Order: sequence, then structure tokens, then C-alpha cells
Amino acid sequence: MRDFGYKADELFCESVSVRKLAERYSTPLYVYSRKTFLEHYGKLQAAFRSVKPLICYSVKANSNLSVLKTLVRAGAGLDIVSGGELFKALRAGVPSRKIVYASVGKRADEIEYAMRGNILLFNVESLSELEAINMIAGRMRRRQAVAIRVNPDVKAKTHRYITTGHRQDKFGIDIDRARDIFLNRAEYTNLDICGIHMHIGSQILDARPFVRAVEKVTNLVQRMKSRGVGIRWLNVGGGLGIIYSGESPQTAQGYAKAILPFLKKLNVRIILEPGRFIAGNAGILVTKVLYIKETPGKNFAIVDAAMSDLLRPSLYEAYHEIVPVSSRSYGRSKRIRRYDIVGPVCESGDFLGRDRRFIGLKEGDLLAVMSAGAYGYSMSSNYNSRPRPAEVMVTGRRARLIRRRETYKDLIRSELS
Ligand code: LLP
Repeated sequence: MRDFGYKADELFCESVSVRKLAERYSTPLYVYSRKTFLEHYGKLQAAFRSVKPLICYSVKANSNLSVLKTLVRAGAGLDIVSGGELFKALRAGVPSRKIVYASVGKRADEIEYAMRGNILLFNVESLSELEAINMIAGRMRRRQAVAIRVNPDVKAKTHRYITTGHRQDKFGIDIDRARDIFLNRAEYTNLDICGIHMHIGSQILDARPFVRAVEKVTNLVQRMKSRGVGIRWLNVGGGLGIIYSGESPQTAQGYAKAILPFLKKLNVRIILEPGRFIAGNAGILVTKVLYIKETPGKNFAIVDAAMSDLLRPSLYEAYHEIVPVSSRSYGRSKRIRRYDIVGPVCESGDFLGRDRRFIGLKEGDLLAVMSAGAYGYSMSSNYNSRPRPAEVMVTGRRARLIRRRETYKDLIRSELS
């Protein structure tokens, strides 16, 4: 997280003091570095330069409009999974021909909305969906371009909730069935079945499962081409892992080096769908210690952020580094203690970190939960009727509020009584 670091004793985001942001905007607070989003996007672009891919940032990772606009202005397309994400993508000003749409459960109204929006490709995940899109396209008197999401049946080493390319996962269509669809494509009179999509999972640290999957799908592209099926797009998905604590994921360069030899053999346009790689290390969650509670069993630092703000630790037992915003707050104390960093929500599973060592942690201290830029705010909720936090985007010396903190009124805005 190069754009988050200490100057003297204080944590900075680019050239802005995180403590000052917390004082100004209160906590819990998401803080993002614009530079990091752009740098990570640029790294992938550079690594794949030789095939000039369309990089469709995966909106679900962090869908704040300012984040989307930042990337769209840099030339990114967007990968969406719902009508809501399409709405946000269009609001962010992305050219509709740079939108790709995956999801195992697209509703008819969402399919129509995306067709009216003239998106580039639907990534189709089942035979029934293919038929539904064909029918809707017919009704709307158009020929719709689609890609088949293939389930390449590889095991990616990651949390079992976020693997998607194994045959027991709900995603995609097995390779044999995909082949049959291509060969029988004439049956789908309103569709132009012109692409292959894969996405094998998320937070994948090692290039090997990607290589195995890409090898399988490039074989399919080649076999289909030899039988006269014109495939124009190959979407290799997202899934690149990042460093949360000591992992050593493949770099963008390493990833490109591993899969480019396969991609270059094909005369197709390449799409990438990174989410976490771009957003993960571009954000932190800042929170305040409300109470220190030392019990015979454990020490707890009870903070004002909770699983409702950052669900990853509770849902996947994901590890996020947690650091003091101001190390001066150690004072003279040299007392190292272990704490569970927990939120106020009424669940024992509401923790942000377990058994973390701190020196002289005390009430009122600010903590930063690192690498919270992806799947942080976007997975937040109002559980326990907690208003969602604010979000701030830092650019150099400037900080801009890009989402205000929710109010109590926001909590009942859509309720009817
Ligand atoms: N493309 C598709 C079709 C996807 O389903 C996903 C993520 C991506 C691209 C982007 O994957 P990424 O590059 O971010 O790994 N909530 C989980 C992650 C779920 C990922 C879901 N799909 C987490 O917090 O770890």
C-alpha cells in the first residue's frame, strides 16, 4: 500500500493526514487514494499492452461513482452483475460498448435494460438464460452479441466462498456443453454468440490455475474456429490476488507473462475484469477505539466500525492488517497487549481482527484497517440500523467527500408506514 504510509508518527494517504480526515469527517470512514486506483489500472494495461485488452473494472469491488469515473476517464470499461450496477455504470459515463454483464441470475427486466443500454456483451451462464436472452432479443427486434461463460473446472486455491471455476460451483457452462452451443448457434436466431468468458475465482495468488483455465478455453476457441465458428472476444475474468499480509501474489507482469503466450495464438480481442487488483489496496477503513475491555478470557478493543461496514473478516475470516493512525498515541507505554478488534454489532462473529498486538492501545485511539478498498463499502449493510460510513477520495494534498455519512433518516427513507 505504497500510497498509505507514515510520515513521522502519523499515517498519511498520499499527502493528507488520516487523523485530520477522521477529525473532519468523523469515523468510521473509508479513505481512498486516487493514485493507487490509477496505478494499478496502469500496471495491468502496461503488462498486457501487446494485446491491447479492454479492461473492464469489476464494479462490485467498489462501486462508488467517483471511483468508477476515475477509472472510466482513464479508459476502463466496466464489468457489471446487476441492473443496479448498470445504472451506476451509465451514470459514471462509461461508453455502453465497454460494458460486459455477468451473473447467474439475470432477470428479464435487467436483460431488457442492458439491451436498451446497448452493452457490449452478456456473459451467459446457463442454457435457460441463453434462451431467455434470445427470446427477449427477438421481442425487441435485435440481434444481441453474447459470450458463453465457460466453467473450466479448475480448482483455484482460495477461500471456498470465492472459487467460481470448479464444476461444483454455480457459475458458467461446462466446456462440452459450451461447444454444443457454439455448434448449434444457428438455433438462436436473435443472438450473435461471439465470445467466451471465464472467471475462476478471487484472491488467487498463483498463476497456475489461471494458466490451466486459459489453456482450456483457448483450446476451445481454436477448436471452434477450425469448425467455422467466429469467436471475436475472449474474456479471462478477474481474480488476481493482492497482499493483505505477507502474501506474495503474482504481479501483473507475471500474470501477463503466464497467459499471454496462449492469448497471442488467437486472433481475438481480450477482455480482463479485475476488481480487487485495482481497488483493494487503494482504500482503508478508519475507526475509533470506543472502549478497552479486558476480561479473564481475552482483551477486546471495541471500535466504532463493525461487520456492517467491513464484512470480510466475519464472512471469510479474512485478514486485514490493523495499524494505529497515530503511533504517537503510544505515549510512554511500552505495554504490548493482544486484542480482538471488535465492533458494536450484536454478533460474536463481529470482529475486524483477532489477537492483534498493540503497544499501549487506549480509548479514543484511531485505527486503520488496511486493504479495505475492495469489497469493503460495497458489501456493507445497515445491520443493527447502523448508518453506513462516509467515503473520502484523496488526490495528492486534496481530499474530497465522495459519499456523505448516512443519517438516521436515510435508514427509514424507503420504508412505508
Ligand atoms: N468477474 C466476475 C465475473 C466476478 O464474479 C468477479 C468477482 C470479478 C470479475 C472480479 O474479481 P476480482 O478481480 O475482484 O477477484 N467478496 C469477495 C470477493 C468476491 C468476488 C466475486 N466476483 C471478497 O471480499 O473477497
